[in-house]
Amino acid sequence: MIKYFLSICVLLAYLFLGCKGSAEQEKAEVNVYTHRYYDIDKDLFKAFEEETGVKVNVKHDKTDKLLSLLKAEGNQTQADLLITVDAGRLQYAREMDLLQSFKSTKIDSNLPQNFRDKDGFWMALTRRHRVIAYHKGRLDTALVKNYSDLGRQELNSRLLIRSSNNIYNQSLVASLIANQGAENAYEIIKGWVANFARTPKGNDRDQVKSVALGEGDCAVINTYYIGKLAFSKNEEERKAISDIGIIFPNQETTGTHTNISGAAIVKHAPNYNNAVLLLEYLSSLKAQEAYAHKNYEFPVNPDASLPEFLSQWPKFKIDSLDLNSLGYYNKAAVELMEKESWF
Ligand SMILES: [Fe+2]
Repeated sequence: MIKYFLSICVLLAYLFLGCKGSAEQEKAEVNVYTHRYYDIDKDLFKAFEEETGVKVNVKHDKTDKLLSLLKAEGNQTQADLLITVDAGRLQYAREMDLLQSFKSTKIDSNLPQNFRDKDGFWMALTRRHRVIAYHKGRLDTALVKNYSDLGRQELNSRLLIRSSNNIYNQSLVASLIANQGAENAYEIIKGWVANFARTPKGNDRDQVKSVALGEGDCAVINTYYIGKLAFSKNEEERKAISDIGIIFPNQETTGTHTNISGAAIVKHAPNYNNAVLLLEYLSSLKAQEAYAHKNYEFPVNPDASLPEFLSQWPKFKIDSLDLNSLGYYNKAAVELMEKESWF
């Protein structure tokens, strides 16, 4: 009986290792599909290669394209890691059965629970907050305390925001639905669309530049763009940010909307162990401080320091919504935006 039990154990262990692969079976490489185009990622991958001898191969594209590719590749994929710029897409990838759960005591000790999926399917790399950038000389900040205030009549033709196909905006609207219900969320975005200064175009950085040029007086953007513009090599970009102030919305209510850039291990990853190794590295103090100091993103490792530029900002209340909600309400958010012809 004991013999029988032991052979079952061996079989189960074999099956488990067969799924995850063993470190010896893997090539000294890890293949990353990523939506992040930042220089800091290149630097971190290079540092990881030097530290571990594991080569990082990178494929860049928008998350939706990467998800279609992963689906088409199925169990033939060479991809080990998926990196996105949004929590909602990680949840969506899980629903598409493209991910596997992972476990690492190092990651568990580097990141608090709210930056790791409760079922182990993803972890956060950085966090970003969606704030309102405004022209200090042209906007009375008493008018704008909440996201809903961007729909006030006084802001007619003064609001700049990128298109509705952008995931940052989809997740912001998803958070409004999760916090306030679909009807209230619809009323809010109706007000925004009525106040658009122009047909949405460009990225977050372009919205700030347009405020500087006087095309509008306020814009909805992610926090790290403020640092990127302030320390840009381009003089025009540094100039664009000089008259810009920041409003952290919903301080009296739900808190400012926050999202993450995150990572997950692909279901059929050929190099599972190397993927975990890279995730452990990216959650380490060294990598987390690099994200903050070089890309002005907020770290998710609580021990990581902030650059002076960010540590000078006032403490602000952050929305504590479960990040998976951004995925659950994505479809409803896109429907509301389309209904209001926000293109
Ligand atoms: Fe971005």
